[in-house]
Amino acid sequence: MKLKGGILVLGLFWGAVALGMVGGGDVEFKMKGAGPVLFSHDTHVGSHFLACTECHDSLYTVKGKHRHVTMDQMAKGLSCGACHNGLRAFSVKDNCQVCHQ
Ligand code: HEC
Ligand code: HEC
Ligand code: HEC
Repeated sequence: MKLKGGILVLGLFWGAVALGMVGGGDVEFKMKGAGPVLFSHDTHVGSHFLACTECHDSLYTVKGKHRHVTMDQMAKGLSCGACHNGLRAFSVKDNCQVCHQ
């Protein structure tokens, strides 16, 4: 399992390098009940120096395989909430408009 994950991250990495962008570029989340959210690889990797392995593949793989997470689940530490918990980064329990446009 561990080996498989490593190969996927490597694949993601070279795929992105070939496209000339940081990681997976900008990822837009659309949902019911709130404005869309833009996730930026550029700021997370470029400005906040996070390693690919902080998120891949434990939290995310690719957009096509995204499993929707609710804000309640995020508040318990899933998806964005793994870091956006008020300790490592601003909390998902408020700051709605920082993520939702
Ligand atoms: C802070 C978390 C985080 C970090 C760090 C991160 N990613 Fe991502 N990545 C995501 C999210 C979120 C998605 C969207 C997948 C989803 O919605 O489930 C994604 C998707 C991708 C995708 C697929 C895009 C698509 O169109 O499906 C690639 C490729 C990717 N990331 C590469 C990388 C690489 C390479 C790095 C390191 C340079 C990296 N990522 C670092 C969160 C992160
Ligand atoms: C760190 C960024 C972030 C913050 C802060 C944030 N959200 Fe979200 N929110 C998201 C993302 C990303 C999704 C989509 C998740 C998915 O599809 O997996 C989402 C989904 C949602 C949804 C649809 C799912 C559900 O739980 O019903 C609602 C409604 C929502 N957010 C409202 C809010 C409100 C209200 C706040 C402030 C109290 C907030 N969000 C704060 C990123 C954030
Ligand atoms: C591996 C940890 C991690 C994950 C997972 C993560 N973030 Fe972040 N994020 C950070 C850190 C660290 C910062 C910078 C500190 C801060 O702003 O509080 C940040 C900053 C941000 C910012 C402010 C932008 C900026 O220029 O600084 C937004 C918006 C954001 N994250 C959205 C998201 C969304 C949406 C998700 C989920 C799809 C997510 N993040 C998942 C760690 C993470």
